[in-house]
Amino acid sequence: MKTIVISASPNKVGLTNTCVETCVKALEKQNHEVETICLNNFNIKKCEACGPRGWGICLEEHKCRIKDDDFSLLQEKINSFEAIILISPVYFWEMSESAKTFLDRFRRCEAFNGKSSLIGRPIICIAAAGGSGNGTKECLASMSILAHFLKLKVIDYIDVTKANVEDKKGQMIKSVMKLVDLVELKDEEE
Ligand SMILES: Cc1cc2nc3c(=O)[nH]c(=O)nc-3n(C[C@H](O)[C@H](O)[C@H](O)COP(=O)(O)O)c2cc1C
Repeated sequence: MKTIVISASPNKVGLTNTCVETCVKALEKQNHEVETICLNNFNIKKCEACGPRGWGICLEEHKCRIKDDDFSLLQEKINSFEAIILISPVYFWEMSESAKTFLDRFRRCEAFNGKSSLIGRPIICIAAAGGSGNGTKECLASMSILAHFLKLKVIDYIDVTKANVEDKKGQMIKSVMKLVDLVELKDEEE
């Protein structure tokens, strides 16, 4: 599988979805395989920080002990893709709750896994601030911390607001093209 577009907005129509559609169209235009998921459609429980010093089996085994939700399925799914586009609406200057809840656990499982298939994988980070437009930088900063711990290769950070969305579509398309080039280059090398 090639690229996964991860949305973290409950809305089927809106700024986040405009970004999702722009990226998906750009990927499809290049005949690139793409799958979109929306984290809000999954049952994801919060991290229990279950071990004695705040670490559970996530540190050594790189999986989560919580089994009665969709986390493991999503972890496995995301690991099977060659590139990621992460798109979150900005809520209170941060990623949305569905993004935070999932990524808190995902980061724990993948961060100190030297064998993680995510290492070096390209990611595009997009923050969609549909209100005042404040908080994109802070939201993108959290995404950059995630990318740091997961050793992802960030292609671009894109701050989208109601006021700049039309201009930003060009940036999204260019970044998607870069991402596709990287994935295809890697495929050729392998
Ligand atoms: C709880 C909550 C907090 C929000 N905080 C911000 C914010 O800090 N900055 C901003 O520009 N918009 C904020 N918004 C607006 C959302 O970013 C905007 O409504 C979002 O883009 C709408 O979702 P959509 O992208 O799916 O259309 C907030 C919305 C909600 C529901």
